[in-house]
Amino acid sequence: MPENKVSYNTDKTAKAFLLLAISYLLFALLMGVTGGFQYILPDFLKDKLSFQQTRPLHVYLAISWIFTAAQGSIYYYLPRIANRPIAWKNGVQVHLLLQITISITIIICFFLGYFGGREYLEFPPFLGLFIFASWIPFTINFFRTLKPNYKTAPVYIWNWTTGIIFFFITLSESYLWLIDYFGGNIIRDVTVQWKALGSMVGSWNMLVYGISFYVMEKVSGNTKIAKSPIAFFFYFLGFTNLMFNWGHHTYIVPAAPWVKMVAYIVTMTELLILGNIIWQWRKTLNAALKNYSNIPYRFMMYAEVWIFLNLTLALIMSVPAWNYYTHGTHITVAHAMGTTIGINTMLLFASIFFIIQEELASAFGKIKKWITAGGRITNTALIVFWASLLGSGIAKISAKMEHNSFTEIMKKCAPWFQAFTYSGIIVYIGILILSIAGVKTLRANSIKRTNNS
Ligand code: HEM
Repeated sequence: MPENKVSYNTDKTAKAFLLLAISYLLFALLMGVTGGFQYILPDFLKDKLSFQQTRPLHVYLAISWIFTAAQGSIYYYLPRIANRPIAWKNGVQVHLLLQITISITIIICFFLGYFGGREYLEFPPFLGLFIFASWIPFTINFFRTLKPNYKTAPVYIWNWTTGIIFFFITLSESYLWLIDYFGGNIIRDVTVQWKALGSMVGSWNMLVYGISFYVMEKVSGNTKIAKSPIAFFFYFLGFTNLMFNWGHHTYIVPAAPWVKMVAYIVTMTELLILGNIIWQWRKTLNAALKNYSNIPYRFMMYAEVWIFLNLTLALIMSVPAWNYYTHGTHITVAHAMGTTIGINTMLLFASIFFIIQEELASAFGKIKKWITAGGRITNTALIVFWASLLGSGIAKISAKMEHNSFTEIMKKCAPWFQAFTYSGIIVYIGILILSIAGVKTLRANSIKRTNNS
């Protein structure tokens, strides 16, 4: 990124967001691996930290990693795009402070066994109000710093705007069950709840895809891609997805068959969108930029592979007739983790390493081999991890079709669970290497900047 005269006085806080995001990720992995051990050793930590605690903790922290890394990246990019400092400097610190306080409270609640929320947001519901409030400074800063002119804005500004607005909408929707009209009727409740969460995934995808667009623009130096008609065509397709793809979560609810068919067709376009965008971008790069040592490029390529793998899986599992069998099996978990690790996490690491590479080229050279090793270990282990979840899902379906007892089902799934847990440990090691590389350089850079100022 070319340095200019604008003072980027919030870079330190933006990096603090990225460091916080990495801490969420490492803690999420620890809880995930603990949960994995509880699959193969059901009594493992049963009295102190049961699976009923490790699962919601893991999922909450994994989602926080995605949102916080996205926010940290956007805080870093905003002044560079707008060519002016962040409008409300103290707002960034207020946001960080609120975010830390809320997550510590949520983690304590989970450890003490205080639940009360719904799937993915299982903490006591009043905390949702604070999460809502913590996004307000971010939103104010986004609009006041950018002052976007949507007629000429590149697609990533549209992505971020949509992601932010829909975060507020979907978070509010996800608490509608507190009103008796929704909570008191099981069909209404399930439909609204899964609609809200499905669209919330759409909102974080908008933030992450926008970041990827920005990084792609900077890596290639080509500003035309983010303003091209094809980019906007795919943006609107993504928007349709955000609004309607949740339908595939509610196949179990009695609804007209055409609703399920529309949901299925819309769902299929989602991953195709991003896959196509990265594919198009790759064609615009020259050989030097496609160099294997270009770290952000490499993480984009990892994401591209995972897009195609998950697209194939989504195609299969969203056929309404097949979804009847796959629903509630580990095939759904494979889809959830395949996309959040393989796509979202790889794209966010592309952004974090892009920031480090641009800022601290000399230190970056020294950690490159660690990033290379971390990326390879994570992605190789992830293939085994993902395949073992699919394997256990298929084993469960076949055992059910043979009308096996619960004990027999578990016996058939056992080898897959072992492969899942052991490969999960290796995924953890790979991401730990990437995280240490990220933390060391982000911290070194902050210290250097503080000393210079
Ligand atoms: C970047 C890393 C990761 C992310 C973003 C992530 C994300 C997620 C998400 C979104 C779910 C919810 C799935 C659903 O609702 O179907 C989940 C569940 C789970 N994850 Fe992960 N995960 C990560 C790594 C790991 C690792 C390394 C392990 C180690 C074994 C693991 C173990 C689990 C377990 C045991 C569950 C619960 C599955 C169940 O409901 O039975 N995760 N994860």
